[in-house]
Amino acid sequence: MQKRYPHQLSYGANNPVIALNEKEVAKIFSQDTRSDIGSEAEKMKFANAVNDLVVKLVRIDYDEKNKWDILVMERVYPFDYRSFEVEKRELWLDVFKDEIKQLHQGGFVHRDIRRPSNITGDRFDNVLLTNTGLRLIDVGISAIKKNVGEKLFAKYVENELAEIEIFGSYFTGR
Ligand SMILES: Nc1ncnc2c1ncn2[C@@H]1O[C@H](COP(=O)(O)OP(=O)(O)O)[C@@H](O)[C@H]1O
Ligand SMILES: [Mg+2]
Repeated sequence: MQKRYPHQLSYGANNPVIALNEKEVAKIFSQDTRSDIGSEAEKMKFANAVNDLVVKLVRIDYDEKNKWDILVMERVYPFDYRSFEVEKRELWLDVFKDEIKQLHQGGFVHRDIRRPSNITGDRFDNVLLTNTGLRLIDVGISAIKKNVGEKLFAKYVENELAEIEIFGSYFTGR
């Protein structure tokens, strides 16, 4: 069995996420994870400057006791889709699509809406439904246009728009 951290919420593909308090969670980047905290924080900050779809970055910090780099972010409490009327979900989906497009226009593409089928876990577990609508977490593989260039960015956007359609059917169809 994998090591369990105190207050752990999830142990994902790369990094465990723990609760810090009622309002904040921390994604842990320990020595043995190869993902880059600086790059993830920068992408999050970039998306946060465009709109509120991606959860808010609070700060990057260092936990002396455990020797962890931590990415502290706003904590959200997701609901099951099916606890809301389908009409309401359709409205939230429209807002979600608009906000995704706004991010694309702003030069940010999330790239992890739909989990590839060869990776375990829920298909859309980076899309969280809150009482104020849909939010996105996990910008680990997100891309910023100025870093990846026009061509690659356009390809990512095209792919994301297709994933959003699949998400839409799932979100309103169960
Ligand atoms: N801001 C948050 N609020 C509440 N739960 C979160 C938050 N960020 C992450 N989590 C929980 O931790 C899990 C893993 O986080 P994520 O950033 O998606 O990392 P991974 O790369 O492991 O998929 C999420 O699926 C969710 O259950
Ligand atoms: Mg994830």
